[in-house]
Amino acid sequence: MSTDIVIGMHAADLPTPVLVVDAAVLRRNLADMAAHTTALGVALRPHWKTTKSAEVARLQLAAGAVGHTVATVAELTALARDVSPSVFLAYPPVGSFRVAAVIEASRTAEVIVGADSLDAVRELSDAATAAGIVIPIRLDIDSGLHRTGMAPEAAVAMARAIATDSGLRLEGVWTHEGHVQAAGADPDERRRRGVRAGETLVAAAEAIRADGHEVTTVSVGSTPGVRSAPTVRGVTEARPGTYANQVAIGTIAPEQVALSVHSRVISTQPAEWAIIDAGIKAMSSDGTMHGDGRIGTVVSAGGGVVSTGHEEHGFLRGADDPRVGDIVRIRPNHACGAVNMHRRIVVVEDDVVTGLWPVLARH
Ligand SMILES: Cc1ncc(COP(=O)(O)O)c(C=O)c1O
Repeated sequence: MSTDIVIGMHAADLPTPVLVVDAAVLRRNLADMAAHTTALGVALRPHWKTTKSAEVARLQLAAGAVGHTVATVAELTALARDVSPSVFLAYPPVGSFRVAAVIEASRTAEVIVGADSLDAVRELSDAATAAGIVIPIRLDIDSGLHRTGMAPEAAVAMARAIATDSGLRLEGVWTHEGHVQAAGADPDERRRRGVRAGETLVAAAEAIRADGHEVTTVSVGSTPGVRSAPTVRGVTEARPGTYANQVAIGTIAPEQVALSVHSRVISTQPAEWAIIDAGIKAMSSDGTMHGDGRIGTVVSAGGGVVSTGHEEHGFLRGADDPRVGDIVRIRPNHACGAVNMHRRIVVVEDDVVTGLWPVLARH
């Protein structure tokens, strides 16, 4: 048996732990999201921090995405070179390394930058002016997550300042309505939060327009909010990343998740747990979205959860009679963190390996 992964290998022979994407589910998710945003009449600009795969980025573009969203300049550089025509850096361009990356990437793609203060764009403005280019800017509006983002009332003042800046141009406004997820399993509250986020953003755009500035893009972004925030009249763009990260709160079915980590049981214990070879270096340790802190949920026969992990050891609890050597497939709690732990994604179709996709821009 080969010690490395080759095309045509059966999934049961894969070395573990390994990150696997089900190609058929992925294709369906890409098509569904493209159809959803098309039906709403908004542009689709997926967040690429989830997959970090050029192959997925190209499939998203083929399905109608206008470009991509990124969080890091490593992601920006990887996409702008020859993968995506338009990249939105939804992260303040603070620090010379970020500024240099934005200027460089602007040579090969449209690069739009998000920020919530003039301080955050000052160095970028100087560098753009020196390079003889103008960088499109989106104002980051806090619609309730309370992470970055300015109060909507502050947006007009920043728009005015950008209007007089030779290196920058106001392109739009954006928000990340991640607080929709925190509404948990209550669909009405999730919808209320999503709609409120969209309305807050549209109101900020209207205030800026009333002050005499052009606002082209009004961009909301999250998977839990994608069924509500972009339905608000005036929103022009949606930025889901995971496409399917809400099994725990019941908005999607387990079979809609394309990503899994395959592992093997390596030790059984007299107590109520077994040990698998996928720990936090295979899944990340982010258990925050569940409330109960689990880092993964078993999706193969036998069931159970990965309650916690050491680096190369996962604690499998609640499984039905686990035996050493059993293959256990796990849905990681946080897909983005899990992907960043691996150097490649193994593409599987009907239990056979059909592709190996490098994970790019891992820092
Ligand atoms: C700025 C921004 N936009 C979009 C997204 C995508 O959201 P989700 O992970 O829910 O798909 C994220 C995710 O954290 C984000 O930070």
